Amino acid sequence: MMDWDALEKTCKTCTRCGLCETRNHVVFGVGPKTADVMFVGEGPGEQEDLQGEPFVGAAGHLLDDMLSIIDLSRENCYIGNIVKCRPPRNRDPLETEQDACIVYLRNQVALIQPKIIVCLGRVAAKRLIDPDYRITRQHGTWVQKGGIWMTAIYHPSALLRDVSKRPETFDDLLAIRDKITETGAKF
Ligand code: URA
Repeated sequence: MMDWDALEKTCKTCTRCGLCETRNHVVFGVGPKTADVMFVGEGPGEQEDLQGEPFVGAAGHLLDDMLSIIDLSRENCYIGNIVKCRPPRNRDPLETEQDACIVYLRNQVALIQPKIIVCLGRVAAKRLIDPDYRITRQHGTWVQKGGIWMTAIYHPSALLRDVSKRPETFDDLLAIRDKITETGAKF
């Protein structure tokens, strides 16, 4: 395991997969290194690639609104992604790209030691919770893995495309708030 400085430096100069050839910025992740709650998306989009920060495009604005519903913000939770470089035309990150990049997220989790991890969307849920995860059926359900409570909610991009999913997501957010209270996570 690397410390924060080594990890960030290694990640930001990474050439472990082909995404390094088309990226503008590595999107390492943001938030307090002591956060008890961590949100994990799938990978940077166009704006994130240009700015080097996760969730700063349209989906990011919605994520900020979602966080504020349960009194969270970028100040008190960590936000990262499965892959740190933008897949061309926002395609899903390939299995091989995820395999190459997951070491960074695992190291981030080991350093942060969050109480709760919320997967944003199918890609993160499949990678972190269960390869057979079905987001439509399983969003909002909880599992404990390695002492960390884990759940998944719809990706904010999916909620932009399909507003009918928003009421269910509202319930999932309230359940996240309950889990924060139950675990004594600070926020
Ligand atoms: N979508 C993601 O999954 N992650 C980001 O950082 C931005 C959009």
